Amino acid sequence: MTMVSVAVLVRGLMQARLGRLRSLPCNLRAQMGGLQFSCLKLQFSQSRSIAESVAKKPFYVTTPIFYPSAAPHIGHLYTLVLADTLKRWKELAGDEAILCTGTDEHGIKIQQAAALAKTSPKEFCDTISKTFQDLAERANISYNRFIRTTDPDHKEAVQYFWQMLEERGYIYESKHEGWYCVSDETFYPESAIEKRLDPFTGRTFMASQETGKEVEWTSEKNHHFRLSALKDRLLKHYIHNPDFIVPATRMNDVIESVTDGLNDLSISRPVDRLSWGIRVPGDETQTIYVWLDALVNYITKAGYPWAPGCEQAMGWPADVQIIGKDIVRFHCIFWPAFLMALDIQPPNQILTHGHWTMNHRKMSKSIGNVVNPFFAMDRFGVDVMRFYLVLDGGIGNDSDYGNHLIVTQYKKNLQNGLGNLVSRVMRGKGWSVRGSVYRMSNENVQGKGAMGDELDVLLTALPDTTADYMVKLNPGAALDALMQAVFKTNKYLQDAQPWSHKDDVEYVSRAIYRCAESLRIIGILLQPFMPEKAAQLLDILGVEESRRMLRDAARGTDGDFGEPKTPISRDAWKSLFPALPVED
Ligand SMILES: *[C@@H]1O[C@H](CO)[C@@H](O)[C@H](O)[C@H]1NC(C)=O
Ligand SMILES: *[C@@H]1O[C@H](CO)[C@@H](O)[C@H](O)[C@H]1NC(C)=O
Repeated sequence: MTMVSVAVLVRGLMQARLGRLRSLPCNLRAQMGGLQFSCLKLQFSQSRSIAESVAKKPFYVTTPIFYPSAAPHIGHLYTLVLADTLKRWKELAGDEAILCTGTDEHGIKIQQAAALAKTSPKEFCDTISKTFQDLAERANISYNRFIRTTDPDHKEAVQYFWQMLEERGYIYESKHEGWYCVSDETFYPESAIEKRLDPFTGRTFMASQETGKEVEWTSEKNHHFRLSALKDRLLKHYIHNPDFIVPATRMNDVIESVTDGLNDLSISRPVDRLSWGIRVPGDETQTIYVWLDALVNYITKAGYPWAPGCEQAMGWPADVQIIGKDIVRFHCIFWPAFLMALDIQPPNQILTHGHWTMNHRKMSKSIGNVVNPFFAMDRFGVDVMRFYLVLDGGIGNDSDYGNHLIVTQYKKNLQNGLGNLVSRVMRGKGWSVRGSVYRMSNENVQGKGAMGDELDVLLTALPDTTADYMVKLNPGAALDALMQAVFKTNKYLQDAQPWSHKDDVEYVSRAIYRCAESLRIIGILLQPFMPEKAAQLLDILGVEESRRMLRDAARGTDGDFGEPKTPISRDAWKSLFPALPVED
């Protein structure tokens, strides 16, 4: 079959299935997304085993799409950096990886904020969405797509998703009556409201007991999703995939909550209350619930709706979806339920992380302790912030943020730890690093002796130790393991004292070779965390750019480094881990 006829066939298939929604074959869409993978190959070369085509699925990691009703804060940066670190780690291992992020732009809060700013919701979103994209750029996040829920392909994907749910009988219409509070966007039960008196006007009104905001009796039509029907399938999924939600404590909370029971979910709002959103297909009076709209973004980015057999070409199912702990219910219950309703595979894992606090208090606009991530990066540098957030950031628990904490970690790990080690080894008088590397790798003794056995064991294991933590979705522990290796190497250098054995060339070479190997391996493994600083470090060590992959992080695999390829300027030395300008 020629490529043209295959393409025609696929297009025919797609059109039959997708109607007017999508007409591009998925290989073309994959190419448009910057990916080389061709789904046609997957579909039509039957000789390939399934396993082979599964292995070809790119690693796919997502962040939530951020709600642009206010400016980015440090928590957004944290999620982005976690995602980027996982993606870059995969690439270090030579695998193809995709990272998607973006902004979630529909909903009543945006509609109201735009009205307040006397602008259209779209224009309002354009501005703030841009600041989130700037954040990703500034933090060197290697994202493949920055999606906006106002993008036309997303709108189509959501409407198609809705139609499929409807076709399968998961959507029904029902009338909802009750006390509705516009400003709280909530229906309150009779027991939660009370009569109040406005002291200024003397008017009485019904209000929420909790918030004091006015409620009105409202009767409206909603579309509902049969969430309750998926309870057993969800529970089965959790039991069969015990690592579905990381960490395990949150997995347990979710299981408990689903076991307690699930109510059906209202998934539309009347247009007269919420107009800023995607219309329900075939019902112009209703707008699709923002969470349904938002969650679908993760498959829009993976090319949904797919032609048969094309799910994996752009990464679905996602390998890891990273979220903050406040949106667990939406991602760990609603999202897999929506997908299961259409027999689409749920994501492999959901990594839920803790929040950042300041002096152990929640960061909030009203307290005025929200950290601006742009200012933080301007002050400490991009890679230093990436380093700090991953190292100190909480997965299971919240973590406390503070400038003094950044400075402390920086000094301990980077300045006095790694920076000091590089400087002692590479600028030390009395030995040649290149000479030591050459001698030891050629003698094929790989530096046994000179008291370093313990360090050898640690360095041999380091790539696996680090990889294990990454697989367990704990980049902070991986980074900590790298820093422990730095401290061990510094300690080794201190104990071995090559400077006191200047007459024993063999001894000095072994000691220096061992330290240089340690720096080379740590430098390679640090790249996903601090891309720029790690590259600078490897340049200083004279490691070829083509030899900086995970497989190169094994002891004794590179006998050619040790001499910077181009002379390292004083400024480059100084800029690796300079003293921080201001400390408080
Ligand atoms: C979270 O904090 C609790 C109490 O301080 C502690 O017992 C637990 O080990 C912490 N969990 C993690 C994952 O750090
Ligand atoms: C971003 O990362 C790349 C490696 O992917 C690195 O070469 C570059 O220097 C980094 N840029 C910044 C501004 O840190």
